[in-house]
Amino acid sequence: MIHHDPKCRSFHFKGAESSYLIGVSEGLDIQLIHWGKALDDAALGEKISAWMAVQAGPLSESHPREFSGFGGGDLRSPAFLLAHADGSRASQFQYQSHEIKPGKPGFPGPQSYVENETEASTLRLALKDPLTSQQLDLFYSFYPSRDILTRRAVLTQGSSAGRLLRLMSASVDLPAGDYFSTSLPGDWARERRLQQAPVQQALLRLESRRGQAHRMSPFVAVSDGGPDEKKGQAWGLSLAYSGNFVIELEGQPDRRLRLNVGLNDFDFQWQMEAGERFVSPECVLAWSGQGLGGLSRRLHRFVRSRICRGPWRDAPRPVLINSWEAHYFDFKHADIVKLAEGARELGADLVVLDDGWFGRRDSDNSSLGDWVDDLRKLPKGVAGLSQEIHAMGLKFGLWFEPEMISPDSELYRAHPDWALAVKGRAVVPSRNQYVIDMSRPEVRDHLIELMSRTVEAARLDYIKWDMNRPLWDAGSTAWPAERQGELCHRFMMGTYDLMERLQKRFPALLVEGCAGGGGRFDYGVLCYHPQIWASDNTDALDRIAIQWGSSYFLPPITMGAHISESPNHFTRRATPLSLRAHVAMGANFGIELAPARLSAQEKAEVAAHVAHYKKIRHVVHEGEFYRLARPPHAAWCFVSQDQKEALLFAFGPLASVTLDGLNGSWKYRVEALNQTRAGASLMQEGLKLGLGDMRSAVYSLEAEPV
Ligand code: GLA
Repeated sequence: MIHHDPKCRSFHFKGAESSYLIGVSEGLDIQLIHWGKALDDAALGEKISAWMAVQAGPLSESHPREFSGFGGGDLRSPAFLLAHADGSRASQFQYQSHEIKPGKPGFPGPQSYVENETEASTLRLALKDPLTSQQLDLFYSFYPSRDILTRRAVLTQGSSAGRLLRLMSASVDLPAGDYFSTSLPGDWARERRLQQAPVQQALLRLESRRGQAHRMSPFVAVSDGGPDEKKGQAWGLSLAYSGNFVIELEGQPDRRLRLNVGLNDFDFQWQMEAGERFVSPECVLAWSGQGLGGLSRRLHRFVRSRICRGPWRDAPRPVLINSWEAHYFDFKHADIVKLAEGARELGADLVVLDDGWFGRRDSDNSSLGDWVDDLRKLPKGVAGLSQEIHAMGLKFGLWFEPEMISPDSELYRAHPDWALAVKGRAVVPSRNQYVIDMSRPEVRDHLIELMSRTVEAARLDYIKWDMNRPLWDAGSTAWPAERQGELCHRFMMGTYDLMERLQKRFPALLVEGCAGGGGRFDYGVLCYHPQIWASDNTDALDRIAIQWGSSYFLPPITMGAHISESPNHFTRRATPLSLRAHVAMGANFGIELAPARLSAQEKAEVAAHVAHYKKIRHVVHEGEFYRLARPPHAAWCFVSQDQKEALLFAFGPLASVTLDGLNGSWKYRVEALNQTRAGASLMQEGLKLGLGDMRSAVYSLEAEPV
């Protein structure tokens, strides 16, 4: 758990495999002594003595600061920046006190959780700036058996007002090393493409300024000595936040590395009245001695069990069919009934009516905000349609885009001030829509009532919660001039509030997140939406790369992945049905097809894939994930927790592959290849596959009783 040694003024977070060790210096500064391999008593003593020797003297850039401010002898990018009433920006916080408590305290917004108080404990370090009487509380919650640390910072203003210009959630100074970063940049329809690069002497900012994160995910991994899947140290940090974030990597001349993770300070400032409190989002930190693969699996386990929540966390997820690529905006009641009939034949469980069911939405030009049935398309209303679909033994769900408002909508005509806008400036439209001001409580009250009405009337089982444009117009008439710099964060916290209210009101409702595909896929939104539409790009080959990149910090069960039509609607590339199915089966599988446009043979083939997925989905959901061969000729596998079952996903051209995660001393039967092989041999010599281009397979491996 958390061991405090008052003599050395150290705090040791000791997990099963890792240790995080911090100390209070003689000058009352918090410093990082070690983050890595678990320390036994002897190693702990050595680390502390070595640190004691360097921590003397005035603060400088040679000190491994744990949460450095601006002012004093450290001009590296700080963990926080405060503007004071007298115009100065320097701060000097000093350790005051601490407390260690079992469990994990609750804060507004998304956060990981405990199921009982024994599984984690929390250290609160209270720091004070004697000149301004501001208080900084650093919270560290540690899950020893999971080797997961979560961090956040809380600033409480002193007796005079000031401005908060930056507050990170976590800051870490790593010792000198040959560091490489792994990050996940991308764009719309090509989200989370793996990017690995040596850390240079430079300040690198991985960030989002858009309120969406197609272009960068709030995650970074750092490896020492080159990125490797299986060996070496890897540190991972991921922010549980879906708005504007920044991750800074600042390589020092002596190869030390500062990492900062938190809210983006771009176009951000927060007015702090006397006594006001500001809480940063939560950052999840993990270390692994087994390379990036070990790090990903540690994070996956945590996300599956302590970020995702509610009845859908562990339950088998329904196989859904989504109407979007089948009908786009063009459908009538009878079309969706027909889609449902087809879905039933294919073995799907849930019918999702995507965009176009409300207002007068015949294109993306209108009606966002008017969340009432379009009786022209659906004369029996959504409730009537839902009733018919339920009577067929299927579940039913709808698409919403709660954070948006169309200028051509009843809602906008009634409340033009509900759209975000910079005073006196024209709103920049995107997809013909504006952003609704989620910072206003009355907007959220209105939306929860409207959405609840439809959920109740249609007895919805599922909602797809979309968000299709960036926040370019972060201004609001609801807030005074000096608070306009708070808008992006207030918008995000308001959105979380609405997500939480919906979750509380309808705990059984399955909500799938989406943001123009995978533009908002992070640990924040996963607290409310246990699965996310991973990308609007459903092309199987592109999806391999997207799902591969996403897997560095996201468990595959959280990634919505559907079999779609060929040629693909987005890339126009033709791919075999089996390839499309196998790619989707390696994640949260669904269907994006019009059954009526399938031949009898294709229908039978899709139905067989659905049945296959239902047989193996528990391993995809709960198993450990191993990346085996890099895209484009990729392979990955899932291994059940007891190692008795494994699934190998292989995408050609691929001659052979070596497996991972099996029990080396057991034998495994690979029925499809009519082979029984020792686990050790499968992991060393590997399996010959001989898969040609566009060929793919999902092999089940079963351990034989020993
Ligand atoms: C976004 C989503 C799609 C679909 C459309 C509907 O682009 O990512 O899946 O729901 O909106 O307009």
